[in-house]
Amino acid sequence: MISGIILSGLFIYLSNNLKDYIYKRIKTNVERQLDLVKTYIEDVPINNITSYELDPIAVKIGRDLDLRVTFIALDGTVFGDSEVNVDKLASVENHLYRPEVQQAIQSGRGQSRRFSTTVKKDFLYTAVLFNKNNIPGIIRLSIPLSEIDELLGNLTLTLEIALLAAFLLAGLVSYLASFFISRPIGEISWAAKDIAQGNYARKISMYSNDEIGDLANTFNYMSEQIETKIEEVSQSKSRLEAVFLSMFEGVMIVDIQGTILLMNQALKNVLKINENPAGKKPIEVIRNLQIQEIVDNVLEPESELIAKEISTLLPEEKVLLVHATRIEKDKHTEGAVLVFHDVTTLRGLEKIRQEFVANVSHELRTPISSIKGFAETLLAGAMEDTENARDFLKIILTDSNRLACLIDDLLNLSKIESGKLVMEKKSCKLSEIVEKVIASLKVQLTDKSIIAKVNIPTDTPDVLVDQTRIKQVLLNLVENAIKYNISGGGIIVSAQEIGNFIKVAISDTGIGIPSQDLPRLFERFYRVDKARSRELGGTGLGLSIVKHIIQSHGGEVFVESVERKGSTFSFTIPKA
Ligand SMILES: Nc1ncnc2c1ncn2[C@@H]1O[C@H](COP(=O)(O)OP(=O)(O)OP(=O)(O)O)[C@@H](O)[C@H]1O
Ligand SMILES: [Mg+2]
Repeated sequence: MISGIILSGLFIYLSNNLKDYIYKRIKTNVERQLDLVKTYIEDVPINNITSYELDPIAVKIGRDLDLRVTFIALDGTVFGDSEVNVDKLASVENHLYRPEVQQAIQSGRGQSRRFSTTVKKDFLYTAVLFNKNNIPGIIRLSIPLSEIDELLGNLTLTLEIALLAAFLLAGLVSYLASFFISRPIGEISWAAKDIAQGNYARKISMYSNDEIGDLANTFNYMSEQIETKIEEVSQSKSRLEAVFLSMFEGVMIVDIQGTILLMNQALKNVLKINENPAGKKPIEVIRNLQIQEIVDNVLEPESELIAKEISTLLPEEKVLLVHATRIEKDKHTEGAVLVFHDVTTLRGLEKIRQEFVANVSHELRTPISSIKGFAETLLAGAMEDTENARDFLKIILTDSNRLACLIDDLLNLSKIESGKLVMEKKSCKLSEIVEKVIASLKVQLTDKSIIAKVNIPTDTPDVLVDQTRIKQVLLNLVENAIKYNISGGGIIVSAQEIGNFIKVAISDTGIGIPSQDLPRLFERFYRVDKARSRELGGTGLGLSIVKHIIQSHGGEVFVESVERKGSTFSFTIPKA
């Protein structure tokens, strides 16, 4: 396109200028020839200035110079003309008023360009005064300008051909340029777009040895490098993610502004977070001021590792140990990592242990101080009073029994808990064990006029249990059902087959248990009404032992109760 415009411009400029140039050249040539002709005429020996002398000269010069030569007298009469026969000269029009003739008469030289009516062609006329044998005259040379056009025509054709050739050449060159430069560059740019969109496997196939080939090779190398780097990055990212995900501890990462970048599933589970926390402040996601404070503190410059135990109430009561540390890069804080350990169970266990020690000491102290008190009273003289001394000794015996029972229970419990007690599991008939237990409690039942019913279907499969231990379980539960029952109440022991287990239930019509006490009922020493239980000789270890025995049989314990209506304790044990 551009080359086309340039070439056309050049063509127009050249053809115009060439026309001028050729015209000027012709003019100068003609003028020189005119001078030559003048000198020739003035020198050539001529006898008389007549048509018969001059016309042949005009013809000769005209033929030699290949132009029209005319000799004109000052009055306009034509003496000779290279193109007009001497005989016809007389009929030639008077030339006096030809512009070039007029100019020559006035200034010695004249020139005119016009259309000749004589020869019907565009002509350039030049005229000059001469003096031959003291007779003045005018020499006029005429040259047809059609020659210029002819010449120009030829030239134009040549130019046109050259232009076409140049055009074709330019086309060829630009095609070659596009083939060797634009196309490969286009391909490289497509490949670059592909890579930008994540298609790193994109390669450019180009095998030239030039700079573009080099560029393509470098590009392929670059895309390979990017691919490996991205691979590495995503691998380490997924490794990190896997670590985060599988971590038991909760992890939260915040940036320098304290905005959450990452929170692992473990932490989301602990804090029951369902939304995506990224991009939010901790306080917006976790409604806990302590966590926000830890984040704020750890992001302070120069802050040390923070280890703090916090407690959350919502959505449930939890004790969390938080370790927070700054992430530093080139001495600049980039953010912080917070690791959360759920220590709720640990703290709960510690609390239970403390309570246990307190409870045990308390339970031991009561009978011991009673024994000690009565022994001292006896020694102080009460021994003499035989009647009272007997009562005192009875109390001492009861309290010692209570102590022995308590210690037995504690030992049992610790044995079961530590797993040292081996369960001797055998196939037994459930109804037989139940009957034996009820029979052994006959005194207590009749004392409170309670009727115990056994409702175990005869086709109930045998159970695989340690008979002594299950007896202990049933004894504890039926004893409770009697102890916490009303006089004249009832007890039903029933059994039901559930999958591979038999579910045994002991229902009573007793005082029932408030619902808030139900979750802690199986804890050691836990008693709903401490005074009442102790009065009834209970230690609060019974249900705890029950739970442990059932658990070591692979079963579960359950309780349902309605205050003042009654309770149902049940457990599952495996079928034989
Ligand atoms: N059937 C029941 N009805 C009402 N409350 C019950 C029943 N069984 C247990 N409880 C409550 O649960 C508490 C714990 O029972 P557990 O058997 O562990 O202890 P205890 O009976 O007090 O003492 P122990 O059984 O060690 O002699 C009891 O103190 C009582 O308050
Ligand atoms: Mg009990």
